[in-house]
Amino acid sequence: MDVLVINGPNLNTLGTREPEIYGSTTLAEIEAGLVAQGAAAGLEVDTFQSNHEGAIIDRLHEARADGTRFIIINPGAFTHTSIAIRDALAAVAVPFCEVHISNVHAREEFRRHSFLSDLAVGVMAGFGPQGYSLAMAYAVQRLSAAGS
Ligand code: DQA
Repeated sequence: MDVLVINGPNLNTLGTREPEIYGSTTLAEIEAGLVAQGAAAGLEVDTFQSNHEGAIIDRLHEARADGTRFIIINPGAFTHTSIAIRDALAAVAVPFCEVHISNVHAREEFRRHSFLSDLAVGVMAGFGPQGYSLAMAYAVQRLSAAGS
């Protein structure tokens, strides 16, 4: 596995969830686009979504075993609450990009703090679903430079 894309709670409802904030693109469309973008660059991309903190942590642990080289993660609300997901990312030590569809800094105060950002290679926020593909473009460039 080259790139693992993880989406956290409520992101399975993209398309219908608060479209004025998150747009009308579904998670299935986003994931298909990322798999195609990776494949075009010769990269294998896996996608995972869960509404459960423990399931996300288990998938992160598996990433270490399956040789994942880069992670793109939108942890949803767990961004602002989960020391456990932070610890899992630190434990697997796979470089990652944190993605938020909305600009979390332009919303409620509680969305401004992330337990992950200081461990991330970078953070995308506010670019809508395009944030994922910008993160994937970075992953493609990074992994190509590192050799396959
Ligand atoms: C989100 C922002 C979070 O604050 C929120 O809880 C989400 C989605 C985003 O993609 O903008 O579920 O991560």
